[in-house]
Amino acid sequence: MSLINLLRKENKKLLFTTPSHSQKFFIFNKFRQFYKYDISETDAHNPQEALKKAEKRASIIYKTKYTHFLTNGSTSGIIAAVLSCVKLGEKVLIRKNAHQSHENAVKLAGAIPVYYDLPVSKEWGVPQKTTPDLINVKGVKAVIVTSPSYEGITSDIKLLKDVCEKNNAYLIVDEAHGALYPFCEKLPESAVNIADFTIQSLHKTAGGLNPTALLHVNCNLSASDALAMINTTSPSYPLLASIEANINYLNSVKGRKKINQIIEQIEEIKSSVKNVEFGGDDITKILIKHKNLTGYALSEKLFKEFNIEDEKTNETSTMLLCGIGTSENKLRKLKQALCRL
Ligand SMILES: Cc1ncc(COP(=O)(O)O)c(C=O)c1O
Repeated sequence: MSLINLLRKENKKLLFTTPSHSQKFFIFNKFRQFYKYDISETDAHNPQEALKKAEKRASIIYKTKYTHFLTNGSTSGIIAAVLSCVKLGEKVLIRKNAHQSHENAVKLAGAIPVYYDLPVSKEWGVPQKTTPDLINVKGVKAVIVTSPSYEGITSDIKLLKDVCEKNNAYLIVDEAHGALYPFCEKLPESAVNIADFTIQSLHKTAGGLNPTALLHVNCNLSASDALAMINTTSPSYPLLASIEANINYLNSVKGRKKINQIIEQIEEIKSSVKNVEFGGDDITKILIKHKNLTGYALSEKLFKEFNIEDEKTNETSTMLLCGIGTSENKLRKLKQALCRL
């Protein structure tokens, strides 16, 4: 039985167990439905079995060795990946100024961080892609690469995997911002079937609730022990069920069509709006610059004059994040604003 159906099933037993709200005592009434599905690992419910099966089905969809559902964000997936493949005193290659979870993961493993840097593109003000010549993999046990970057710059993961393999290093790809990639050919190739570990946030672009995410394992190591060390023993089954529903949707004809529709609309914006320049490798991250405005001035103008908030800005450019929930209407308003800049 799917996790979603298991939560819907009526329980006939009297539960003298946790949680003591017993799915019926709604202190915060607005979250009534959430309480109803908030169950524990009781014999009456036995959600562990359904979760195992849901993760197995996900691994078939993604064609991975294992796909773990995470309810503490990509942060927990990155930490678990490092703890799974690195031992005390071993070296891990990470990028300077990467997301804080990379350095924290290395610290928690008792490993030694060594750093690589990425040149910043003069044209766009964003870090460039990670290429083999920028990383020194010799003597390290694992390498963490962020692809796509916040701004949608993607790296050639196959090339990086080759370099890692030749040097007996594990490749961990932080694909937190690329959870839609496995479901659309118009988007950059996902790392899920290439890297040893790939971590994706469902909540960032793929319609998931905060902080749902996935850890995909594609090597012969298990991440289960590491996850057990850092995770609660009382996981949120409503969140876990939402992950199952989320993946089913992304993988459905309807979900794939929705991703394509959003991309087609952005393609139309890119071809018809002439007063801004578009950059980046991932069309769903609308990276723009204007010849008469700095990135910060552009961001401020969009915010103050057009009620539009961007995701990330630098001196040169600004990026507007889109995802599965970006409506046609929102994109239409963005187009009107860009035309009037
Ligand atoms: C590149 C990158 N990696 C990892 C994370 C952590 O993701 P989460 O918020 O799902 O824990 C973030 C969050 O902003 C991020 O930008």
